[in-house]
Amino acid sequence: MANEQTSQPVLLQAENLSRHYRVSQGLLQPKATVRALDGVSFSLRPRQTLAVVGESGCGKSTLARQLTLIEPPSAGRLLLGGEATAGADGARLKTLRQQVQMVFQNPFSSLNPRKSIAATLDEPLLINTALSKAERRERIAALITQVGLRPEHLARYPHMFSGGQRQRIAIARAMILQPRIVVADEPVSALDVSIQAQILNLFMDLQEQSGTSYVFISHNLSVVEHVADEVMVMYLGRAVELGEKRRIFAQPLHPYTRALMSATPALHAAERRERVLLKGELPSPLNPPSGCAFHKRCPMAVARCAQGAPLLREVDGRQVACHQV
Ligand SMILES: Nc1ncnc2c1ncn2[C@@H]1O[C@H](COP(=O)(O)OP(=O)(O)OP(=O)(O)O)[C@@H](O)[C@H]1O
Ligand SMILES: [Mg+2]
Repeated sequence: MANEQTSQPVLLQAENLSRHYRVSQGLLQPKATVRALDGVSFSLRPRQTLAVVGESGCGKSTLARQLTLIEPPSAGRLLLGGEATAGADGARLKTLRQQVQMVFQNPFSSLNPRKSIAATLDEPLLINTALSKAERRERIAALITQVGLRPEHLARYPHMFSGGQRQRIAIARAMILQPRIVVADEPVSALDVSIQAQILNLFMDLQEQSGTSYVFISHNLSVVEHVADEVMVMYLGRAVELGEKRRIFAQPLHPYTRALMSATPALHAAERRERVLLKGELPSPLNPPSGCAFHKRCPMAVARCAQGAPLLREVDGRQVACHQV
């Protein structure tokens, strides 16, 4: 979507963001720690879309909960408009939370079935703004049209809509407070393939019109290629490759990124690279391999990959965490 915005100020900054959970392993076992998110850093600028991609369990939704201030990090910092969120008190936190809204995967469970669409969209305005009834009504009517529905839909209830229409309503709810950032966690994965492109285009149109930045979580690389400016590839709680979409899709460097890409048949079919097959299963985050967490599945692994975890470093215009690149 947007490009050349390096001169723009950073809107959201994650610095070594981590979230660890203590989990029970059974009655007589000691508790273990899951490093669901383990030292992730990136920045997001206005009108920019960062896509986060990786297999199930790699920490994408955990990251989403940190970014939307639903849950505090175990370590690291999050800055919104340059302000550290950890220092915010109750009232300030409420203001900051309005700036980062969320769209969930499942539009069937994310809308309250007992509330009309008008009430669903009015509630955040009632709670968070001093707008008059007429002003709220005007904003809601304008937005419902913007998301591709009609004002007469406002009197209806969620069950009267299709999945795609419900996701449009959920997007309107996320947009109603005019947030600076929307975090969308797999927002099209529950929808029919025929509907997915329409919803992705809606996201892009809204960004064009409102300048909102997105953190767009998806395991689907075709979706990522469609929407992203920047891409972060995650593996077991860490970023393994991070940079401009253009560069990463043209030439993925991390062996995990390459494996993900070669598993997506539609992607660049004409210049299909050799298939990189992943060996084995995703390891348990309770007991990740030593060294590079990816080494046991990696076609390029050598002895030192089992010893030290590689740090992200600049390679060919993006960041990669791999000893062999
Ligand atoms: N509240 C929690 N308590 C304990 N462990 C958790 C908690 N939330 C997440 N985890 C663990 O953290 C890891 C990351 O989970 P997360 O839901 O963030 O992954 P994900 O990338 O969103 O996966 P998916 O693609 O399936 O949605 C998983 O191993 C998960 O079991
Ligand atoms: Mg998830």
